[in-house]
Amino acid sequence: MHILLMGPPGAGKGTQAANIVKKFAIPHISTGDMFRAAIKEGTELGKKAKACIDAGNLVPDEITVGIVRERLAQDDCKKGFILDGFPRTVEQADALSKILAELGIDLKSVINITVPSADLVERAVGRRICKSCGATYHVKFSPSKAEGKCDECGGELYQRADDTEETMKNRLSVYEAQTKPLIEYYQKAGLYVEIDGRQAIDKVFADVVETLK
Ligand code: AP5
Ligand code: MG
Ligand code: ZN
Repeated sequence: MHILLMGPPGAGKGTQAANIVKKFAIPHISTGDMFRAAIKEGTELGKKAKACIDAGNLVPDEITVGIVRERLAQDDCKKGFILDGFPRTVEQADALSKILAELGIDLKSVINITVPSADLVERAVGRRICKSCGATYHVKFSPSKAEGKCDECGGELYQRADDTEETMKNRLSVYEAQTKPLIEYYQKAGLYVEIDGRQAIDKVFADVVETLK
């Protein structure tokens, strides 16, 4: 089962991907997570990506397509994957089509989680992530039981450097200009499904599962 998960910044892609992984046991491939891991490790890739991410701009297509091509060629992607946050430009979508054709993979669906921009800043600014296991929380909508500590592993929670009100404004305008055109792109391909991301996390997931039947 090969799925693309789209949506504006803070819409709930990572949250839903984590649920999909638990239920369907397919790898979660998030370009944002891959870049953040590279920044933490101080690799060449991390050095190239850091300034773009901190400013809320996209990392150049050739870099992003390169890491996705390498990742999708790995054996664990044969039975399925959930691709979160890629593609984000028409160029990336065209490149992905070619990569999938080479690998003999057909997408099952392209799921877009929609949330009005007005709600997205609050979602991002209130997000907290576990340093150890990556579990995602929200101070208001999905709080951990003990403040600052992960329910799953007891790890310390942190805030992403790009989760400020100011950077979010730029991430949202980048989304409108560069990523939103992909809605029409995948509508034309007949793969597009829209899910109302304003609903509670469990309800959004129930809708995701329904579309995958
Ligand atoms: P990335 O990490 O992908 O960030 P993003 O797209 O901005 O999306 P987020 O991770 O912020 O949000 P999400 O949709 O995963 O929401 P989440 O589930 O965490 O990318 C970061 C950067 O990397 C980019 O800006 C760019 O620079 C670079 N990059 C990445 N991919 C790239 C690409 N393809 N090309 C070029 N550059 C790329 O939820 C958010 C919060 O809301 C959480 O606190 C959660 O608990 C809460 N929440 C979730 N669902 C709900 C709900 N239903 N109700 C209430 N609260 C909810
Ligand atoms: Mg995410
Ligand atoms: Zn944890």
